[in-house]
Amino acid sequence: MNAMIASTVTLQKVNTTTFNQHRVRVIAVLKACLLTQTTEPLVASKQPFKVQLKAGKRYSWCACGHSKKQPFCDGTHKMLANKIPPLRFVPDEDCTVWLCGCKHSGSAPYCDGTHKQDFIQKAELPTAPQS
Ligand code: FES
Ligand code: FES
Repeated sequence: MNAMIASTVTLQKVNTTTFNQHRVRVIAVLKACLLTQTTEPLVASKQPFKVQLKAGKRYSWCACGHSKKQPFCDGTHKMLANKIPPLRFVPDEDCTVWLCGCKHSGSAPYCDGTHKQDFIQKAELPTAPQS
């Protein structure tokens, strides 16, 4: 009986140690995520995107610039820029519009010409991931 209690105590210690190690790792990952979060949008493109929109459909325009599905959100902001959520909108009618790619338009999600300014034209664009 004592051996059984001893092995249970040992097992609990192992579980507690394993849990604490996982907890430390989770905290480290969360800290890394928080420290690498950007608060300024990335210039995804130096030009707008010409897009055909459908009336009544809900769109999520990427405001952070990190999406790989520009000009729309692919959820990457949750990892890289959680303070810059997508801008959601529903067009009233079918239309063709120019959606902002530089992420600095004053009329987001639409292009207002801000991309023509030097700070956008001289900005570094994100590089495609290496394969
Ligand atoms: Fe952003 Fe034109 S692409 S303002
Ligand atoms: Fe940019 Fe979601 S990925 S707003």
